[in-house]
Amino acid sequence: MNSITLLDKLFENKSLSLDEYKFLVENYDKSNARYAATLAVKRRKEIYSNSVFIRGLIEISNICKNDCYYCGIRCSNKNVDRFRLNKEDILSSCDKGYSLGFRTFVMQGGEDPYFTDEIMCDIVKSIKEKYPDCAVTLSLGERSKESYQKLFDSGADRYLLRHETADCEHYAKLHPESLTLENRMQCLKDLRKIGFQVGCGFMVGSPYQTGEHIAKDLKFIENFKPDMCGIGPFIPHKDTPFKDFSSGSVSLTCYLLSVIRLIHPRVLLPATTALGTLMDKGREMGILSGANVVMPNLSPEDTRKKYELYNNKLSTGAESANGLEALRKNLDEIGYEIEIGRGDIRKEDIYEQL
Ligand code: 5AD
Repeated sequence: MNSITLLDKLFENKSLSLDEYKFLVENYDKSNARYAATLAVKRRKEIYSNSVFIRGLIEISNICKNDCYYCGIRCSNKNVDRFRLNKEDILSSCDKGYSLGFRTFVMQGGEDPYFTDEIMCDIVKSIKEKYPDCAVTLSLGERSKESYQKLFDSGADRYLLRHETADCEHYAKLHPESLTLENRMQCLKDLRKIGFQVGCGFMVGSPYQTGEHIAKDLKFIENFKPDMCGIGPFIPHKDTPFKDFSSGSVSLTCYLLSVIRLIHPRVLLPATTALGTLMDKGREMGILSGANVVMPNLSPEDTRKKYELYNNKLSTGAESANGLEALRKNLDEIGYEIEIGRGDIRKEDIYEQL
């Protein structure tokens, strides 16, 4: 096997065997990465031209009932200054975002029992009433199918729920027993069936992760064909059991962004905050590797610092007009432009298939 031949094959067929994915991951080097990025950018441009979509991220609560070993806001971390936004806070973040040009709002939070279906549906409805031209994305973890259905019926368009790893044993090393890969996958299937645009994803370089695990993630993405896929490097947080593990690699993350673009050319692929945190211009590197989404933070400044999933989380963002202008300039320098609009996934034109 040879990585360049495999990347060519992936470019043509959008599919490789598990062993072939494993080979790509385990034999990754700079020159393969450069080649993968060239192919990925070519594919992305065919569908999305040089557009980058922006999403306004609103962190609505850092209260979480779960105790994931990697996450800084896990329930047993007593050093977190916990917060939750109320409806007014959330709507005013949307107002600010709308006037800056954001047309997607992503409400992300820990699994906070306060946000019942009733409360959440009311918030979603109010946003959609006020901004019918905007998409609402939710990222609130595992809920029941009935709950997802209610959120969808109240107007939510998209749901992000990273699968974290497609390997059961690895999943058990990252999470307490109360959380299972089986349930996570069931949630993703339920969300898709209900009609959400669905996002999955995983961390690169999470503790105990092997090349085979990543190969399984890639095979899962190939089969599931998520509308969105969030991948970013693992970054240790000092108050978690994983505090002494090292961070994931920025360059391997970028390589995987390219590979995912080749597997699923239409996917909406963010250059994540974690990528920007580990490296200056990390997000630009992500775009140049095949990503086409950035998610600046619209949360109020005082709460933003408290939403610390990992240490030193990048918190500059484009939440102000100045910030957004800086992002526009950075993207312009690498040949990309922000597209104002909901930025839905571009589905295959039926005529293309004829
Ligand atoms: N490093 C990087 N990413 C993390 N996440 C949680 N904790 C960390 C960490 N320490 C990611 C998870 C989660 C998403 C919201 O953030 O993949 O799904």
